[in-house]
Amino acid sequence: MQEKKSIHGSWASRWIFILAATGSAVGLGNIWKFPYITGENGGGAFVLVYLLCIALVGIPIMVGEVFIGRRARQSPVNALTDLAQESGQSKKWGLVGLMGMLAGVLIFSFYSIVAGWVLQYIFSTASGALNGISSEAAGALFEGLLADPTTLLMWHTVFTIMVLVVVSAGVNAGLERATRIMMPALFVLLLVLLGYAMSTDGFSAGWHFMFDFDVSKLSWDAVLVALGHSFFTLSLGMGSIMTYGSYMPKRASIGSTVLTIGILDTLVALVAGLAIFPIIFSNGMDPAAGPGLMFISLPVAFGQMAFGQLFGFLFFVLIGVAAWTSAISLMEPTVAFLVERVGMTRKKATLALGTVAWALGILCLGSFNFMSDFTLFGKNTFDFLDYLTANIMLPLGGIFVALFAGWVVKEKFAKDELSFKSEALFKVWKFIVKFIAPVAVTVVFILNL
Ligand code: TRP
Repeated sequence: MQEKKSIHGSWASRWIFILAATGSAVGLGNIWKFPYITGENGGGAFVLVYLLCIALVGIPIMVGEVFIGRRARQSPVNALTDLAQESGQSKKWGLVGLMGMLAGVLIFSFYSIVAGWVLQYIFSTASGALNGISSEAAGALFEGLLADPTTLLMWHTVFTIMVLVVVSAGVNAGLERATRIMMPALFVLLLVLLGYAMSTDGFSAGWHFMFDFDVSKLSWDAVLVALGHSFFTLSLGMGSIMTYGSYMPKRASIGSTVLTIGILDTLVALVAGLAIFPIIFSNGMDPAAGPGLMFISLPVAFGQMAFGQLFGFLFFVLIGVAAWTSAISLMEPTVAFLVERVGMTRKKATLALGTVAWALGILCLGSFNFMSDFTLFGKNTFDFLDYLTANIMLPLGGIFVALFAGWVVKEKFAKDELSFKSEALFKVWKFIVKFIAPVAVTVVFILNL
């Protein structure tokens, strides 16, 4: 068979693919969500379950997404449809890609609101407004931001535009260029902040909080959160990584590439925790503060520390960059689809999708003010969409990808594409995607009903 090419372009090298996928994976999930859900779920035991989910479920499914994308060289709906057909199976598998596109828009709508808070805090730290701030004042400031739809809307709009600019420029001039600039900056910033956290006297308390585990603190709900988060943080279950895989050079080995991405993403989450908890502990604050952890406790901590203004500013720049490269990957699958299937130009497709996501975002930001009384299943719009996507749609998408890779695609296709060094490795992978991953996810689902 002649090798297929993506009409959208392809990454210049294997390393660019690794960095682009890592850019997708490393985001608010690692730096904002992971520390606060670890705090809420008691620390060490949760971290352990999360690591198991990444290794046993996340990475094998990511291998599946990348190989499906690279084999078909198209956006998820078309990739799944074509591969199913080539394997003599139902074209309906394409629907999984459709659910993924929907999840992408829904995630974007609340992701962009949080990213907007980050942009606001870049300015607040830079201006010195947070220097020496008390907990009450920091709390009031964050509450004040949430209560102010105009400011939220402004930052949500700015962030959406930042993302649209990159996506509309295309795979090479947009995504790849952003990757080359932003990923090295991200790693440097993270290391600087880790060094800073290590110099505080809370470092050992932070370390123990994250790595000493007490299994009795673990609930099934926490396991679901850990599982859902392992999909969210690796950008799995909605086609982001599948789409990035469709731009991957042919010769690069999928196994080692995916492993690198998984390790980098995990390291960033752990380092973010190790940078955040010591600061929290050295200032005697509560690690279980919830979503406000980063926006209330941290500014207080930075406000009291030597060079806190500078490092606080750098910290929010870091999160802003991470959120930006991730949000790009939430849009790319649908934009690629609209270009392929509907024949729109990339610019039009980006604008159309961006408008829908932006409008939905307004409902999310309203959760904190003018729509705070509106609830779905007892949650405001923001929390509902977070729950629906991370804990339901992504794991479901993940099950389908696993089943597709394990049962639907012809084994020969998978073997050709993966070209694992050993047959045993292939067998292990196949066993995981066929049985372990779907069963594990299903069991955790059922236990939570
Ligand atoms: N992984 C990103 C984060 O941790 C968010 C993200 C980007 C994502 N693309 C995704 C999550 C696709 C789920 C699916 O912040």
